Amino acid sequence: MSEPDPGPQTGSGENSEETSLIETEVTADTTETRQASRADPVVESRDLSVYYGDDQALNDVNLAIHEQEVTAIIGPSGCGKSTFLRCLNRMNDLVESARVEGDLLLRDTNLYGDDVDPVALRRQIGMVFQHPNPFPKTIYDNVAYGLRVQNKAVTDDVIEQALRRAAIWDEVKDQLHTSALDLSGGQQQRLCIARAIAVDPEVILMDEPASALDPIATSKIEDLIEELAEDYTVVIVTHNMQQAARISDRTAVFLTGGELAEYDDTQTIFENPESERVEDYITGKFG
Ligand SMILES: Nc1ncnc2c1ncn2[C@@H]1O[C@H](COP(=O)(O)OP(=O)(O)O)[C@@H](O)[C@H]1O
Ligand SMILES: [Mg+2]
Repeated sequence: MSEPDPGPQTGSGENSEETSLIETEVTADTTETRQASRADPVVESRDLSVYYGDDQALNDVNLAIHEQEVTAIIGPSGCGKSTFLRCLNRMNDLVESARVEGDLLLRDTNLYGDDVDPVALRRQIGMVFQHPNPFPKTIYDNVAYGLRVQNKAVTDDVIEQALRRAAIWDEVKDQLHTSALDLSGGQQQRLCIARAIAVDPEVILMDEPASALDPIATSKIEDLIEELAEDYTVVIVTHNMQQAARISDRTAVFLTGGELAEYDDTQTIFENPESERVEDYITGKFG
């Protein structure tokens, strides 16, 4: 299941500045940033631990995801980033050896409560994967899929709105009834985002959504993620630290052992992290 992870990207190394902390725009007093008041969290993990058989993948993770923000999860390969993301919409239910301890809340609902239907939950908390995975159907039918499963009305207007919100409408509006598999990788990924949006989720989870794409397609996805955060709550796993610094409001740094080492405003994490281990990770001393 786990894929090779290129580790932190600290750039080409040609510019000596690239080995220092990643620059973000503001260098304000971080004390104030740390105290910035925020709305109640949408999703929250409390002492979340996950085991695969006897192996622990997450260790007492406490993390609150805030509404209409982009939260980035970074950290070296194998530190539990994907595991955390998969817990949030119960994709780990599908892994037989996985055992989850602690609490995960979607507002006031316990996500692992007996009354929660995981399939309905996955519409509310949608997911986009590293490799675009459109169905072998038309563009139109991909976007309509979730609505049809729910017996909801499929109108041309709903399809158009989802494609517009995913910033792909202009590219596909004249070929809605052709196969989604004929699209480029970047277009397929935006189509998958449109498919997730069409069922009106509250939270969109993305696991390295641009790491299989070229730089231009990546930049389109990054722009789109920032736009999506105006309407949705986005949680993105990325191994690309510049990407996290560019597009996220908050950053969680997971380190080896499945431990959440630090979580703060993105600017603070990249400019003035509290922990030396996080600073070492961000400056590329280890990966
Ligand atoms: N389905 C699985 N079965 C067993 N072990 C797994 C499974 N998925 C992940 N793991 C293990 O859990 C740890 C965390 O993996 P993962 O969440 O994929 O990390 P990351 O996304 O940060 O690279 C790793 O040691 C990995 O080998
Ligand atoms: Mg992963």
